[in-house]
Amino acid sequence: MNRQIQIDHLAFNYNNNLVLENISLQVFQNDYVAIIGPNGGGKTTLLKLLLGFLKPTSGSLRILGKTPKEARLSIGYLPQQINFNLDMPISVFDIVLQGRLAKNKLFYTKKDKKIANEKLELMNVKHLKNKKIKELSGGQRQRVLLSRALTKEPKILILDEPTASIDPQGQKEIYKLLKELPLTKLIVSHDINILLQGVNKVAYINKTLHLHDEIDTNTYIKDGHFCEMELLDYFRNHKCSI
Ligand SMILES: Nc1ncnc2c1ncn2[C@@H]1O[C@H](COP(=O)(O)OP(=O)(O)OP(=O)(O)O)[C@@H](O)[C@H]1O
Ligand SMILES: [Mg+2]
Repeated sequence: MNRQIQIDHLAFNYNNNLVLENISLQVFQNDYVAIIGPNGGGKTTLLKLLLGFLKPTSGSLRILGKTPKEARLSIGYLPQQINFNLDMPISVFDIVLQGRLAKNKLFYTKKDKKIANEKLELMNVKHLKNKKIKELSGGQRQRVLLSRALTKEPKILILDEPTASIDPQGQKEIYKLLKELPLTKLIVSHDINILLQGVNKVAYINKTLHLHDEIDTNTYIKDGHFCEMELLDYFRNHKCSI
């Protein structure tokens, strides 16, 4: 199997505050990993380390055999918070095309535009392509940013709460689409009942990381109700970290 992410005994401090401790994780090609855990548990911090925005205090981290910074062009990323200047007169299509930006690239090709159109269509927002980004609703903007991440045609897709402002029907649609995308995916979400139905691994992070595979979520459905708290208890209490 093709190993794409290798984290060994990683720790991270913000100032003197230990946020992540002894994290080890391997992610293989086409793995779909749910990253769950309580607020402040360190999920976003781990993603920022994977992207090379932060440096481990100790331990090692390799992506596609490279350092996170070197691998960044191969990663599609949707951050938890976007600090967009909403007054910018930039169009949706131009935002999505940014997914094709590369070092020293001066103009977009026909192929770039074709891919951007395809991804907008996939995310059901092609009709918005000529609007200004500031004219969109929160959920529409999120779909556009997902289109941009996919337009990069990444080897690994990293999404931090991608459906936070999307309505329930839209959330279902997006998780269905994500499930079918043939690439490696790491997704942080608190919507565990939808997310866990598609994944093959669950990483529970609360300073330390516990990896679970072969999760059978069906055993947590009782009389049509998804027993979310019981499943979370299971993750908290079963420390089968590899
Ligand atoms: N820039 C920062 N400077 C100092 N401490 C930070 C910074 N960013 C996050 N932290 C702290 O690091 C810890 C982990 O934060 P992180 O954002 O990784 O959590 P999270 O699991 O993503 O939480 P949430 O579910 O709320 O998004 C928290 O205690 C937080 O207060
Ligand atoms: Mg977070």
